[in-house]
Amino acid sequence: MSEARSDAPEATMANGTVAPNTAEMPDTTPSSDVYAPSDGMIENANITAYMRKKGFDTYDDLYQWTVNNPQDFWADMAQELEWYAPWDQVLDESHAPFYKWFAGAKCNIVHNAIDRHLTTWRRNKVALIWESEMGEMRSYSYHLLNREVSRLANVLKSMGVKKGDIVTIYMSRIPELMFAMLACAKIGAAHSVVYGGFSVDALADRINDAKSKVLLTADGGYMRGKVIELKKIVNEALQRTPTIQTVIVTKHTGQDVVMETGRDLWLHDLFGLPIASALCDTEPVDAEDMLFVLYTSGTTGKPKGVVHTHGGYMVGTYTTLKMVFDIKDEDRYWCAADPGWITGHSYIVYAPLITGATSIMYEGAPNFPYPDRWWNIVSRYGVNVMYTAPTAIRSLMRFGEAWPSRHDLSSIRLLGSVGEPINPEAWRWFRDTIGASETPIMDTWWQTETGHFMITPTPITPLKPGSATRPFLGVDVDVVHEDGSSCAANEDGMLIIRKPWPGMLRTVLNDPDRYVSAYWEKVPGGVYTAGDSARKDEDGYIWVIGRLDDVIKVSGYRLGTAEVESALVSHSSVAEAAAIGLPHELKGNAIHAFVILRMGFEPSPALEAELKAHVGHEMGPIARPEKIEFVTFLPKTRSGKIMRRVLKAQALGQDVGDTSTLET
Ligand code: WTA
Repeated sequence: MSEARSDAPEATMANGTVAPNTAEMPDTTPSSDVYAPSDGMIENANITAYMRKKGFDTYDDLYQWTVNNPQDFWADMAQELEWYAPWDQVLDESHAPFYKWFAGAKCNIVHNAIDRHLTTWRRNKVALIWESEMGEMRSYSYHLLNREVSRLANVLKSMGVKKGDIVTIYMSRIPELMFAMLACAKIGAAHSVVYGGFSVDALADRINDAKSKVLLTADGGYMRGKVIELKKIVNEALQRTPTIQTVIVTKHTGQDVVMETGRDLWLHDLFGLPIASALCDTEPVDAEDMLFVLYTSGTTGKPKGVVHTHGGYMVGTYTTLKMVFDIKDEDRYWCAADPGWITGHSYIVYAPLITGATSIMYEGAPNFPYPDRWWNIVSRYGVNVMYTAPTAIRSLMRFGEAWPSRHDLSSIRLLGSVGEPINPEAWRWFRDTIGASETPIMDTWWQTETGHFMITPTPITPLKPGSATRPFLGVDVDVVHEDGSSCAANEDGMLIIRKPWPGMLRTVLNDPDRYVSAYWEKVPGGVYTAGDSARKDEDGYIWVIGRLDDVIKVSGYRLGTAEVESALVSHSSVAEAAAIGLPHELKGNAIHAFVILRMGFEPSPALEAELKAHVGHEMGPIARPEKIEFVTFLPKTRSGKIMRRVLKAQALGQDVGDTSTLET
């Protein structure tokens, strides 16, 4: 059974701030605990072929060249894809940090994800295999995928959706979610996918920020044998949003839903009309045109709309999937994330299609109806590459080896992990029990903002369990003090990226100032600050420790303390609230909230349960606090900011550190 470490003392950072909770900290595995790749793995890897093509003998030499000449490297990769018109400049730095990649080029990510395969044998290749936990299965060749996407694109066009519009998509993990994203991109509109596990308030906020006129949803989705009532949540959210004119609903679960005449339309009805023709040209767009916005939690109550564009994102996601997960045409690849998360955007939808892969999508829980559901999927579909998160690995580990051992998992060649540091125990279990002991684990560090992997092994990297290892090609990473100077080996500091990269976010939607202040001004020198603490060991391996800001990673999902707090204070009984993350064995972190009640309300277990349910209803089940404590006082600075680190240290029974700014 996996256990997150909770015994280490909370560290004070070199910059005076308190390091995030220690349960997120990977064990300090000795550098001698290194897992070297096999000769066969090295010989056959895509990255080895590229290294040889460029005339280098080692990854280090290749890396040095790419980091000294990032524009040459990324242009090399871009040339493996198709463009309608070439770029004038690989990187335009004239308005830094508003960088432009492949400036002047015309392209469309859908051309590379679908169109270009249709003139090759891949037209008949399976692009997507989907199954739901209730047993339904479907598969789509690239040819059929193109038809579905084109029909939906034509429907959207007929509704007046065009370039510059942002279409909100709120669905569970079904193929139509993928079609919806691709249909928007195909006609040059942008999508904003709201994770299907989010609820009324989270959905309404995101629709309002994006000012969407069209919303694509489904009647419901499945999770652990239950139906998530997506359309019901939509109906409630739309009472708080003035912009939506049309809602297109996919029938999936088939339960009764309330459809509003004049606003809500069934997708299958629209597909029966002549407007839904399967012929639709892909719209050429500028490389820098918006592809999507994806909201992510930051330090304020308002989530940030992270903006990604067609050209650079397409090159970055393609290159990383090809080199890190070593995708070959004969592979079957499975990313078990949710498409509503950046991992799903980049590595379920776009990159696998651009590489022409066959990928798997599964709607449901890993342990439904039994804890071997995932291993059953691996063996039935012959999955070669599997990508998931530490929280899922830990939760399946506790059911023991008997469940995976019932299945033939020998097809697996590579495994992957993302979302939070992976504890070495889970790492070893994943490698030994799911892999075949020699199976490398690609522990990929990246963010919604980075678009694609930034620190990651490749199949030829010697691995240290718990470390995301080395920066990817062309990516210049460092660990620094607050003044921007580099930390010594093994010293904790702030994780930064020194040079721009193609899949980077371009701005925060409707808030360019926040883009600059949140990412580019925290450390001097025009560098990107990730918001994570990390250390670099004597071999240059990066050990990510966790978030430095008020963002909590719950089961790998990123939640802002401020969002949870504002959900709490929206309840009539709550005067003030503070939320913190505390170590949790399976989830990595769990939310604990402290609440001051309004006059006339008394603490009770019933009220605690009601408040938890209220947060779940407003934000989604993932944000439900584990525990709510009723208090009469919250520690605050003299300027009135809640000192969450004091609450956290108290909860962990640790020294509260410097409280000189505490209001008394
Ligand atoms: C954390 C997820 C350690 C980190 C793709 C980062 C990780 C945040 C790893 C971004 C990893 C992601 N090891 N920590 N391999 N991958 N993180 O935006 O704190 O949901 O800043 O993107 O997840 O979360 P996001």
